[in-house]
Amino acid sequence: LATLLTPKDLQGRRILVSAGPTHEDLDPVRFLTNRSTGKMGYALAQMARRRGADVCLVSGPSSLAAPLGVERLMVRSALEMQQVLLERFPETDALLMAAAVSDYRPASFAGQKIKRGGDEMIVRLTHNPDILQSLSSLKTRQVMVGFAAETEDIYTHARQKLERKHLDLIVANDVKALNSGFAVDTNQVTIIHRSGQVEPLPLLSKAAAADRVLDRLVALLDAPLV
Ligand code: CTP
Ligand code: CA
Repeated sequence: LATLLTPKDLQGRRILVSAGPTHEDLDPVRFLTNRSTGKMGYALAQMARRRGADVCLVSGPSSLAAPLGVERLMVRSALEMQQVLLERFPETDALLMAAAVSDYRPASFAGQKIKRGGDEMIVRLTHNPDILQSLSSLKTRQVMVGFAAETEDIYTHARQKLERKHLDLIVANDVKALNSGFAVDTNQVTIIHRSGQVEPLPLLSKAAAADRVLDRLVALLDAPLV
């Protein structure tokens, strides 16, 4: 019923959504990751589909079910996520980059389980590519939406990311706030526009927050190209 009552303002739009954490393998049994569960990205994919979009969801490891009618591609590491997003990006009208991509990965993968030994162990990490920034440099018509997970100076940091990654919108998230951020069903976000407009939203369900972000996306997709 919810689907029937939803206005189809994203009909005919192709939307690429990334969600979830990445797993960066150290050996066959261990990996580096973060607290993301995928809830915000999956909510965006689901609501975009309800509004009529053709949605491709590129998901890191997550226990969530694929939203109905959404094409889901599962990946594991940041490098895999980058490859799949690169393939799908040219045919996309908008990218919603909600994934919590690991900034680093183990510098080498041990083919066998690393054995214990010694009092201390040092793991060397190497930098992962900034997927969003690399896709922005390939942008033709795509509307680019980033997410910023912050614990302090949220606005300043998010604004810097919007500039650095050449985004149209950034959704800033205080991941330390109560009932907001990782693994919960609610979120308190602030939408920051390229124009400088700042829209703090109240604490909402992730589905409602996703809808608000999609409202802004519709406006940007409908705006004439400049
Ligand atoms: N992102 C990405 N590739 C990465 C890291 C982040 O595409 N290797 C994307 C995220 O999906 C998000 C945005 O960039 O949409 C901001 O991610 P965030 O982790 O908040 O910012 P970083 O630029 O990684 O900066 P930092 O972690 O130092 O705050
Ligand atoms: Ca990061």
